[in-house]
Amino acid sequence: MRVGVLVSGRGSNLQALLAAQDRGDLAPAELAVVVSNRPGAEALEHAAAAGVATAVIDHTGYDDRETFDRALVAELRAHGVEALVLAGFMRVLTPVLLGAFPHRIINVHPSLLPAFPGLRAPEQAIEHGVKVSGCTVHFVEAGVDSGPIIAQRAVEVRPDDTAVTLHGRIQVIEHELLPQATAWLAAGRLEVVGRTVRIH
Ligand code: GRF
Repeated sequence: MRVGVLVSGRGSNLQALLAAQDRGDLAPAELAVVVSNRPGAEALEHAAAAGVATAVIDHTGYDDRETFDRALVAELRAHGVEALVLAGFMRVLTPVLLGAFPHRIINVHPSLLPAFPGLRAPEQAIEHGVKVSGCTVHFVEAGVDSGPIIAQRAVEVRPDDTAVTLHGRIQVIEHELLPQATAWLAAGRLEVVGRTVRIH
């Protein structure tokens, strides 16, 4: 299954996907293209270095979210993409993109959802004083960080943690969970039953 990856920034999760592909652990998923909404995103360099096609679709050049999403869909279709992974993609998706890949878009979020959706999740966790946090890979639906949960992994929050140190430990587990969930998706092993995802 040809998979597109949407990024906005550093791309450490993209690197994990590329490394998994290299090891043969992503099959039957195949990374077809990496699309960034930010021209300077470091993630683009990682993709190019691994020989994966890249594209930039700068959201600032579009009047509204729907027009931007239509451009994304056209680019993804041109690369034969059948499923999407959001790896640090900092834009809210409209029904234009969601409808183009129904139940075929997954996201990774640095908290144990439904706790701390939205921006700065590790900071929210520190501010709230929780003792355990983690990461969530979930299907993307309308609504921020709210779709059916595919997999979660926990980390302990240490007394001396800052948002930065906590996020660093969360990212280590993100890098294991996201490639695994991508391979499951491509293999057709994920079944959505209401809010529950069954892994076959
Ligand atoms: C990750 O922590 C992910 O959970 C969130 O954005 C961050 C992206 O990091 N959605 P990177 O660009 O993959 O390093």
